Amino acid sequence: TKRRLSPASIEALKGDRPIVSLTAYTTPIARLLDPHVDFLLVGDSLGMVLYGLDTTVGVTLDMMIAHGQAVMRGSERSCIVIDLPFGSYQESKEQAFRSAARILKETGCSAVKLEGGAEMAETVDFLVSRGIPVLGHVGLMPQLVNTTGGYRSVGRNEKEVAKIRRDAKAIDDAGAFAIVVEGTVEPVAREITTTLRCPTIGIGASPACDGQILVSDDMLGIFNDFKPRFVKHFAELAPAISKAVEDYANEVKARTFPGIEHTFQVKR
Ligand code: KIV
Ligand code: NA
Repeated sequence: TKRRLSPASIEALKGDRPIVSLTAYTTPIARLLDPHVDFLLVGDSLGMVLYGLDTTVGVTLDMMIAHGQAVMRGSERSCIVIDLPFGSYQESKEQAFRSAARILKETGCSAVKLEGGAEMAETVDFLVSRGIPVLGHVGLMPQLVNTTGGYRSVGRNEKEVAKIRRDAKAIDDAGAFAIVVEGTVEPVAREITTTLRCPTIGIGASPACDGQILVSDDMLGIFNDFKPRFVKHFAELAPAISKAVEDYANEVKARTFPGIEHTFQVKR
């Protein structure tokens, strides 16, 4: 078996070429994406995309581990990063280590992601210095929906710019191998990207970042509950699926499916 890309090798891509990433939650999708990306994120967005939850707050560590195992089975070359879900790391750096260690031990993946800025820097340092590579996540942080009130982009006034700048610097200094920057304006993304030691991975954060990530179900046009401005549909799979299912239903009702070629024959 080929060796996987490591978090360190992803960090080293900064200044070399843009880093390519997508989310994956299942074995068959991981298999399709693996040849084309540097890392796959098992994001807690799976709560909304796969389970129909309104926010990511209800996602559990057990859900993340089950889907992380599935993605590991479907991939061989990309680096696999798994989200620490809400409530599994905010309490203390020790709780964060315990949760992250479970993820690494039970899935075999090589890194975790956690949301947070300056308040999480001590936790990131604690994990990294004890053998757990961390992908940071600053800017728009979906796990904070209940305090920040929603999915508004950040960095539109001086106070917000100062905060995201401080957050990104703190997580960089704490030793993250890369930082997801979500939902901010181009000048802010550019400034952070040029200032930081580690690469920035943008989602709704302009082309100025060192790499890009999207939710696969968004860019494939499968999950169409809403389409944020930053999503581009590289395919329209939802209508293709609807059409296929409609055809199937019609053929079953007309008894044109299954045909003779789909039917076991008695040997005589
Ligand atoms: O959960 C997720 O999918 C994410 C990415 C969109 C960055 O955190
Ligand atoms: Na996430």
